[in-house]
Order: sequence, then structure tokens, then C-alpha cells
Amino acid sequence: MAILSFPESGEQIKEVHEIRNFLNSNGIFFDQWTCNVVFDAAATTDEILSAYQKDLNPFMEQGGYQTADVISINSLTENYDQIRAKFLAEHTHSEDEIRFFVDGQGLFWFNLENKPVFNLLCEKGDLISVPAGTKHWFDAGEVQPFVKAIRIFIDMSGWVPEYTNAQTEQAFLNFKFPVREV
Ligand code: LAC
Ligand code: NI
Repeated sequence: MAILSFPESGEQIKEVHEIRNFLNSNGIFFDQWTCNVVFDAAATTDEILSAYQKDLNPFMEQGGYQTADVISINSLTENYDQIRAKFLAEHTHSEDEIRFFVDGQGLFWFNLENKPVFNLLCEKGDLISVPAGTKHWFDAGEVQPFVKAIRIFIDMSGWVPEYTNAQTEQAFLNFKFPVREV
């Protein structure tokens, strides 16, 4: 369940239709997929991909996407600080960046032309497609990261971060992950 935040104004949107409308009207695709399978820490890539195949396969066919894999980051991940730094700097890609969140959470940040910077807390069930050329960065948190996500590609070689070197992210490093009250 995603949460959209505008750190400069403090505004937050938690209602999924409003989140989808805002993102779609800004060219960012957003959807939610459900699945009844509960994965344990040992779940393999194939188990995860096949649990989501009813949504994943048609999505990939329609979009002409060729490959999917699963990334897993947790508190045991080696060199987490370096991995985090790689995505924490504002960048673009030459192809769409598509992530489906199987478990855990992460913040996707966006710096669109003529818009205040905003971020989307992505959690289990959230699918996001960031168009090629969109300035963005990502953070799974400084400590205790936990994220398991399916990545979908046309061509894996398109997924190279091209850094803007604008350091836009620096102004937002103190932002606290939003918490959903129950
Ligand atoms: C990436 C994200 C995390 O480039 O921005 O993989
Ligand atoms: Ni990226």
C-alpha cells in the first residue's frame, strides 16, 4: 500500500485512486497486484515470478518486456552502503524502470520538470513504471533495509544509472519514511 509524500509542503496522499491519478497524470504508471502466496526468506526467483504470473505475463507481453528478475536486500546484504549510494543519487535511465514490490519497502523519489520533488513509499503489491529519462532516485533506508522486488526489463543493458550530478537528493536526506497508522 503506497503513500505519496510532498516533503516541501508536508502533504501526503494515502488513497490509492488519488495516488494512481496523480502518478498517471504525470506519466508514471502505477498499479497494484495481489497474490495469496506467502514467501519465506528462502523463496527462489522462480517461485516468486510464478506466483505472480497471472499479472506478470500479460503485463510483459503487452509492454514487450523480455526479462524479469528478483532483487532482495536485507540487513544481511553485503556492501549495503555502496548499493544504497548507487541509487540514492539522482539519475535517469534510457529505458523504463519497472519494479513490483513483493515484500518490504522503499522510497522512490521523483524530480519532474516544474513540480515539487515528491516520493512514493512502495510496499507489498505496488507496481511502478518510471519512464525513460525521468529524474529519480531510490532509498531502502539507512539501516535495517528490507525489500524484495521484481524488476522487469526490455533489455537489461538499458538499466544503467545516468547520474544528473545535480545533488537534488541531498536536500531530502533527513526525510523520515512515512508510517501508516492502523
Ligand atoms: C534503479 C532504481 C532503484 O535504478 O532507481 O534500480
Ligand atoms: Ni533508477
